[in-house]
Amino acid sequence: MEVSDLIRPNFIKLTPYSSARDEYSGKEGTFLDANENPFLSVTDEHFNRYPDPYQWACKEKLAAIKGVSPENIFLGNGSDEAIDLLIKITCAPKIDNILILPPTYGMYKVCADIQEVFVQEAPLTDDFEIDLDTVFDSVNSATKIIWICSPNNPSGNLADREAILQIVKAFPHKMVVVDEAYIDFSEAPSFLRDLEKYPNLVVIQTFSKAWGMAGLRIGTAYAHPEIIRILNKVKYPYNINQLTQAKLLESLGHEERKNEYVREILALRESLREELESLEMTQKIFPSQSNMLLVRFEKAKELFAFLLENKVIVRDRTNVILCKDCLRITVGTREENERLLDYIRQFEKTI
Ligand SMILES: Cc1ncc(COP(=O)(O)O)c(C=O)c1O
Repeated sequence: MEVSDLIRPNFIKLTPYSSARDEYSGKEGTFLDANENPFLSVTDEHFNRYPDPYQWACKEKLAAIKGVSPENIFLGNGSDEAIDLLIKITCAPKIDNILILPPTYGMYKVCADIQEVFVQEAPLTDDFEIDLDTVFDSVNSATKIIWICSPNNPSGNLADREAILQIVKAFPHKMVVVDEAYIDFSEAPSFLRDLEKYPNLVVIQTFSKAWGMAGLRIGTAYAHPEIIRILNKVKYPYNINQLTQAKLLESLGHEERKNEYVREILALRESLREELESLEMTQKIFPSQSNMLLVRFEKAKELFAFLLENKVIVRDRTNVILCKDCLRITVGTREENERLLDYIRQFEKTI
């Protein structure tokens, strides 16, 4: 399989915009090539120069942490940018399709809908495992991407590694994207270590969860260098701004702090689980390898409204496939979890 087989031919041929910083990437010089303001900025911090379009300093540091090469990394304005561009480079509008495994993260379908790309669905089983037969039945010749979210949002569970590998191996001519937004909260190893073996595999991660940088908007796609090269051709030339690159570089020096957050969140998740289990209106708490708990409650909709009235905001998933009567609860601080539990107990007394 050639990696280029996964990509729409127009993107293989595309001559991308050549920015000033593409044509001269040296740090020293008299810069009269990009129509910038030579007198610094109107703010005290200076932003008058365009940033590195390929974010090499960040990628080098990230590559060392993740055990990949900088050429395996695409940085996006959140992983949502990577999701959008992966669909763009593989799927012809009104012809091709992506396969999603609902219930799952909503942006795969939204990005496909925006681009007029068809969406095939192979729902997970009742306990949110991959249903391989349905996946194999749902893939057709126009399917370009199979999306697997693991740990999954909104269920929180980890997909079976062997099932994912079976899909990756069965469809070498299709892109298989494993979205690992929540992988830091899981004991399972990342699929990053499988990238070299499977050129059709793409792994997505984000700085928005365990790293605590959601407001910065940084997500990553890790893939074969040829896929990354095409993503770089298609992205906006300076998609990651200077401030974000600087803060990302800073955050990469604090991996241990991220690990501490993870340990703390996991401990809080387990105490939240225990407390929720002791409530009468809790019907089921699904297994989680993430920072969320999907919980089936008696009177879930009413509970959601009561919590909202009291400014405790959880996610109503009651109308989502396989999530009947379920609320998705992000693990908060000890105090936040206590407040949530207090209001649930209050509500419980009224029913
Ligand atoms: C599974 C999954 N992937 C990707 C994202 C998007 O993350 P980002 O903030 O990097 O765009 C989310 C956000 O909630 C998510 O749940």
